[in-house]
Amino acid sequence: MTALEIRNKYLKFFEKHGHKVIPSAPLIPENDPSVLFTTAGMHPLVPYLLGEKHPQGTRLTDYQKCLRTVDIDEVGDNRHLTYFEMLGNWSLGDYFKEESIKMSFEFLTSELNIPVEKLSVTCFAGDNDAPRDEETARIWQECGMPKERIYYFGKDDNWWIAGEEGPCGPDTEMFYDTGKPACSSSCNPSCNCGKYVEIWNNVFMEYFKKSDGTYEKLKQKNVDTGLGLERMAMLLQGKQTPYDTELFADVMKKLESLAKKDDIASRRIVAEHLRASIMIVSDGGRPSNVDRGYILRRLIRRMTRHLNKLEISLDELPNLIDLNIDILKDLYPEVANNKDIIKQVIVEEKDKFVKTLAHGQKEFEKAVNKAKEKQEKIIDGQTVFKLYETYGFPPEVTKELAEEEGFKADIDEFSKLFKEHQEKSRQASEGKFKGGLADQNEQTISYHTATHLLHKALQIVLGDHAKQKGSNITTERLRFDFSHPQKMTKEEIEKVEQIVNEQIQKDLKVTCEEMTLEEAKASGATGLFENKYGDKVKVYSIGDFSKEICGGPHVKSTKGMGTFKIKKEEASSAGVRRIKAVLIK
Ligand code: ALA
Repeated sequence: MTALEIRNKYLKFFEKHGHKVIPSAPLIPENDPSVLFTTAGMHPLVPYLLGEKHPQGTRLTDYQKCLRTVDIDEVGDNRHLTYFEMLGNWSLGDYFKEESIKMSFEFLTSELNIPVEKLSVTCFAGDNDAPRDEETARIWQECGMPKERIYYFGKDDNWWIAGEEGPCGPDTEMFYDTGKPACSSSCNPSCNCGKYVEIWNNVFMEYFKKSDGTYEKLKQKNVDTGLGLERMAMLLQGKQTPYDTELFADVMKKLESLAKKDDIASRRIVAEHLRASIMIVSDGGRPSNVDRGYILRRLIRRMTRHLNKLEISLDELPNLIDLNIDILKDLYPEVANNKDIIKQVIVEEKDKFVKTLAHGQKEFEKAVNKAKEKQEKIIDGQTVFKLYETYGFPPEVTKELAEEEGFKADIDEFSKLFKEHQEKSRQASEGKFKGGLADQNEQTISYHTATHLLHKALQIVLGDHAKQKGSNITTERLRFDFSHPQKMTKEEIEKVEQIVNEQIQKDLKVTCEEMTLEEAKASGATGLFENKYGDKVKVYSIGDFSKEICGGPHVKSTKGMGTFKIKKEEASSAGVRRIKAVLIK
């Protein structure tokens, strides 16, 4: 059964059981600065798990694009992936343990035709926070699961929460027995030897973990489930790794035919990181030195290095992207639509890395020689940091290079230096910001307000994707960067100018309100949500035309700002355009 067939079967099955199929949320959470990427199907549903009404009702199902970066260093082995798809079904205060388990059992045994002998399950063993989940064990037995394949484990294995705080609860996990021999007489589903593979997790979410570490009951009893698509495809197809399924096989074959060196871990790293990068760029991610952008940068750079290791020409990258997109487009049609920008962003980032790679490698070799002279086998944190700062080597690239030499890299020291550096640049940028505010005059304030008008006008003319990526104001002009894949046409530029000038002429009042970030989001205000705002934010409204989170200051009304004229529209970086504009009095 292909991954797509499994997905379709899943959604149809739960639809038949009264669930509404909802679309996958983007990989990059909308308006949520608290996490870098969507890591589970429940993620976009948190408000509804907490009690808010979902417009589609109390039974939902979907497939969700997910990315988890904790295992990034493990990619290359036979099972870890950063990008994966999670199939899920939810009860928002509707059914609970009995119906949930019975549906899972029916789906696994009757729809996917997995023999019950291949299945084992685990339940929560109980502790001071919540009782032993004997009800779950009983329901499994009623389904036909023999007692000896029902296991109990503690919070480490059978309690699920995303992060430190939030909705959570005991879970029951389903395992597939691969038929490999048991590693010991005590081998069981919690063992990592590879005999048992977890295939599905049903979380009985009736608790909320507070920041002080205590638990309270939620308003409603929910069910949150997650089934990893790649893993299920691998098992049902009798394959040993996800790379042997149709999701990766053609790319792996191609890499094998191109490579001059035989290294399966490198081939997997290239295939996996390329697929993840494509999915991130397709959902709007761009490489940078912070947060999400940095994860993407790490993925592309590590992939590039492994292409080099395999001695595959980097000119093959566009072909490899095409091949990947060909596979992905059946599951994610949006990827095919974004093909050009995906290629552009990934190839540009590869080019940037190539430029510094040779220099960095020299620096690395120097460090190795120095360490050898001292009879040490460690690359110190300073060097790891310098390679990062000056040559853009993600620390795991340095770590891998070191390991290839039989060395270690001092990543802990690197992390310390990195934090110190971040703190210094934060202080520096706050200093700069203060300077910027002190430097205000009537003209810069007008430009600031014009920036908000421009942002909104761009979204009207080009679409909602035209989001602010940066701005810079002097007394002479404003500069504004925004996401948009291609050059604006003359007509689009004129239309934007016309809209901005119309608003200026309407003499709109500019008002400011203070509220919490949540209230600001709820009020529909736009903002750079990946920024860390304080507890309260200021929201500036220009008439009914624009509403943005912003520190200000702004003009009191738009009259007298002058006539708005776009002087230049050009590329700023991949997928980002830059406008320079003036106000003529
Ligand atoms: N949210 C649960 C998980 O990710 C289902 O495993």
